[in-house]
Amino acid sequence: MKFWPQKRRNKIMLTILLVTLATLGGVFAYLEYSVYHETPTDTQVLNADGAKTALVIYHPGLTDYARNVTYTYAEALAEAGWRVEVTTPSPQAPTDIAKYQLLVLGWAIYDFGPAPTITSQIQRIGDLNEVNTTIIIMGGGLDPFNVKDQMNRIVEDANGNVIQTITSFRSQRNFSLLQEEAAKLAP
Ligand SMILES: Cc1cc2nc3c(=O)[nH]c(=O)nc-3n(C[C@H](O)[C@H](O)[C@H](O)COP(=O)(O)O)c2cc1C
Repeated sequence: MKFWPQKRRNKIMLTILLVTLATLGGVFAYLEYSVYHETPTDTQVLNADGAKTALVIYHPGLTDYARNVTYTYAEALAEAGWRVEVTTPSPQAPTDIAKYQLLVLGWAIYDFGPAPTITSQIQRIGDLNEVNTTIIIMGGGLDPFNVKDQMNRIVEDANGNVIQTITSFRSQRNFSLLQEEAAKLAP
């Protein structure tokens, strides 16, 4: 015995499907917002009298992991003789790329790709003016869509010159690699 006529059943199934998709979309949008909303910070200057200036922009993430990784690299740059300006992506972050000889972009992966806050900042800057660029990718180790290639393409499309791409997955704890790579870039 059929409980509902076929037409009504189809309608109910379609309604359930649409409600499920809307709920999943809402959950995804909430997660995306909670991990990737902009957190404006003042620009912090390391080694103010450095020979050349590096602009380091990182997305802070949920814990202090992204900050620790980024500052490990930024402090090693300062140690090597750079003036280093560190900030997070937001409308108040510097956008005049002509003032910088090095750009560093760092974020933790939360959705298999580059952080939307970082790509928005690249759009705010506009033409990267062939600035040498280091990309620092952090994460738990799940990278099915090759984040490195995605980000390299975004930077190159904006006329940036990628000179280093460093991956720092939590399990690796490769802080010394970050220091070694920064030390290679004497100003
Ligand atoms: C919602 C969410 C999604 C994540 N997605 C990825 C991912 O796609 N790839 C990856 O390698 N790590 C992923 N991770 C792991 C984070 O990148 C990793 O924990 C990193 O250290 C982020 O720093 P946090 O602990 O401050 O959030 C994800 C973590 C969370 C909470």
